[in-house]
Amino acid sequence: MNPGPPHPISKKVLVVQYSQTGQLTRLCERIVAPLRADPRISVHTEVLVPRKPFPFPWSFFSFLDAFPESAHLVPPALAPLSLQGDEDFDLVVLPYQVWFLAPSQPITAFLKHPVGQAVLRGKPVVTVIACRNMWLSAQEKLKALLAAAGARLIDNVVLTDPGPVLATFITTPRWLLSGKQAGFWGLPAAGLSGAQIQASRRFGLALRDGLLDGREKGSQPLLAGLGAVRADPRLIFSEKTGTRSFHVWGRLLLAAGRPGSWQRLPLLALYVIFLVVMIVTLVPASLALQAVLRPFMKPWLSKMALQFEQPSGSSTERSHIYED
Ligand SMILES: Cc1cc2nc3c(=O)[nH]c(=O)nc-3n(C[C@H](O)[C@H](O)[C@H](O)COP(=O)(O)O)c2cc1C
Repeated sequence: MNPGPPHPISKKVLVVQYSQTGQLTRLCERIVAPLRADPRISVHTEVLVPRKPFPFPWSFFSFLDAFPESAHLVPPALAPLSLQGDEDFDLVVLPYQVWFLAPSQPITAFLKHPVGQAVLRGKPVVTVIACRNMWLSAQEKLKALLAAAGARLIDNVVLTDPGPVLATFITTPRWLLSGKQAGFWGLPAAGLSGAQIQASRRFGLALRDGLLDGREKGSQPLLAGLGAVRADPRLIFSEKTGTRSFHVWGRLLLAAGRPGSWQRLPLLALYVIFLVVMIVTLVPASLALQAVLRPFMKPWLSKMALQFEQPSGSSTERSHIYED
C-alpha cells in the first residue's frame, strides 16, 4: 500500500472553551474530535478562565446579579490567555452559552480582549450555541462583536434543551441554582440529551472535509444541509421584551454598584417583583394576543426564522452523509 506523501495539508484550528457544568465542553469536544483525529489538522484549545470565577451552582442573588453585565456586554477580567495574538488560524470554533439573552460573560470578554480580537481578525468563525432555548438576541449581539473584531461568521450550530418549554422554565433554573440536573416529578432532565451531543459529530466531520478542501476560505457555509439550527419565531417577541427589560434595569443596576455589591440588592429585589408581576399579567396577555395574531403574522414569522437560521440553515439533506 502506498501511503502517499505524509500530511500534505496543514490546517490550524482554534477552539475556545468555557463551560460551568461541562455540557458545552462535551458538545464542543464531540464536534472537534474528527479534527483532532486528523493528522493534517492541528487544534489549539483556549480555555477561558475568569479571574473571579462565576459560581456553580449559583445562589439566587449571584445569578440575578450577573444580568446587568451580561446584557450590557461588560467583559469580566480573564486570566492571561495562552494565545499571543500573532497566531494565524484557518478556522475558529467558538462555542458559547447564553446568559440573559446575551453571550455568556467569559465569551464576551474573549471577543473584546485585544488578543482575542487580533486572533479573530479576518478569520472564518463557526459559532456553536448550547442553551435552554432563547438564543436569537444573543447571536445578534455575538455577530456584532465578531464584526467589531473583523471576523467572518461562516456557520452557526444551535442545540437547545429538548424538554417542553414550560418544563425547562423549571428544570433549567433548578439545575443552575442547585446543580441538580436529573428529572424529577415527571419532568425531564435539564440540559441537552446525550443523543443530541452524540449526533453532533456530523458537524465535526463536515468541518474536517471543508477544511481539507479549503472551503473555509470561501463564502459558503460548511455546515449547510446538516440541520445545524432551527429558529422558533414565536420566541422573537419574548426575546425582544426581555432584552429591553434587561437593558433598562441593567443600566440602573450598573449605576448602583459593582457586581456583588450590597447597593444592588434593593434594586435586584425590586426587579424580581417587577418580573413576577410581568409574568402573571403581561406574559399571558401577550401569549393570548400572539395566538390570535399568529395566522396573520405567519409569513413574516417564517421569514424571520429563515433569517435567524443563516448562515447554516435548518435543512437536513446532507445529514445522511455523516451518519454513524
Ligand atoms: C446566568 C445564566 C443565564 C442564563 N440565561 C439563559 C438565557 O437567557 N437563555 C437560554 O436559553 N439559556 C440561558 N441559560 C442557560 C445556559 O445557556 C446554559 O444552557 C447552561 O448554563 C449550561 O451551560 P454550561 O455549558 O456553562 O454548563 C443561562 C445560564 C446562566 C448560568
